[in-house]
Amino acid sequence: MNTRELQEEIIRLKKENDICILAHAYQSHDIWEVADYVGDSYGLSLQAEKAPQKTVLMCGVRFMAETVKILSPEKKVLLANSLAECPMADQMDKEMIEAVKQQYPDYAVVAYINTTSELKTVCDVCVTSSSAVRIIKNLPQKNILFIPDCNLGDWVAKQVPEKNFKLLQGGCPTHVRITLKEVNAARGLHPSAKLLVHPECQPSVTQNADFVGSTTEIMAYAKKSPEKEFIIGTENSIVQHLQFDCPDKFFYPLSKDCVCHNMKVTTLGDVYGCVKGVGGEEIVLSGETSVKAKKCLDSMIVYGQA
Ligand code: 13P
Ligand code: SF4
Repeated sequence: MNTRELQEEIIRLKKENDICILAHAYQSHDIWEVADYVGDSYGLSLQAEKAPQKTVLMCGVRFMAETVKILSPEKKVLLANSLAECPMADQMDKEMIEAVKQQYPDYAVVAYINTTSELKTVCDVCVTSSSAVRIIKNLPQKNILFIPDCNLGDWVAKQVPEKNFKLLQGGCPTHVRITLKEVNAARGLHPSAKLLVHPECQPSVTQNADFVGSTTEIMAYAKKSPEKEFIIGTENSIVQHLQFDCPDKFFYPLSKDCVCHNMKVTTLGDVYGCVKGVGGEEIVLSGETSVKAKKCLDSMIVYGQA
């Protein structure tokens, strides 16, 4: 089968088997084309509850599939490739954060959604890169313990100067590879281009960008902008997606090293296996973990929409 035939077969099978395909923005373009919804972490979690199908297939990383399962426990949730882990999600565990909480008893524990469901059970609220500023502004607490990404935390803290932030040393191993040297080199090569970066990048990179936002926000900015050239400082798949969406504009990767191997491990062939019923990993969470972690995710949705 060629790509188009495989895609047609996936689309036929997902309808026949009542499966909703959710794809994170970092998935490859051939997967985007068979998905029912493509978006950033926040958009995917909102879709988790909305999908009318009985089965949800997550083309993304494990914490995203767990989020869907927690928000829609009655649905069968499949992770398209069980190797797709987010290394940041495993950087801090429940025991560690419980110990830190004892040192900071009057702090709200704000967890980036890139955390395990186990860790979410001891946090007050989840945030995503596109919702963090809004949610933290809406929280009643003034003191914020932000985990695990200190780069995102640093960027959010600068947008919300009225609150006190305590950050821990964690972060995305993909975005942290981007350096100020690469910013200067890309600016030199493309002097007319706007620099759009993800807030998981280091402060030296975000401070020198023209726009900082989530994957979906970066794409929306580039599509709407009257400018013609953009340097993209996030996972390099976004460069390719934008080239499809805006063929008359020019997109350059800020760093050739900004590739998330976990996002890239899922293939169209994996998606085919899942819709045929012979692939993927079904997400199973203990009742107690789901109930406690759901409070953290529900708070995200409440404060995110306020
Ligand atoms: P967003 O999709 O929220 O921009 O997050 C990027 C990311 O790294 C997801 O793992
Ligand atoms: Fe995790 Fe970073 Fe990959 Fe996102 S890009 S899944 S945060 S490692």
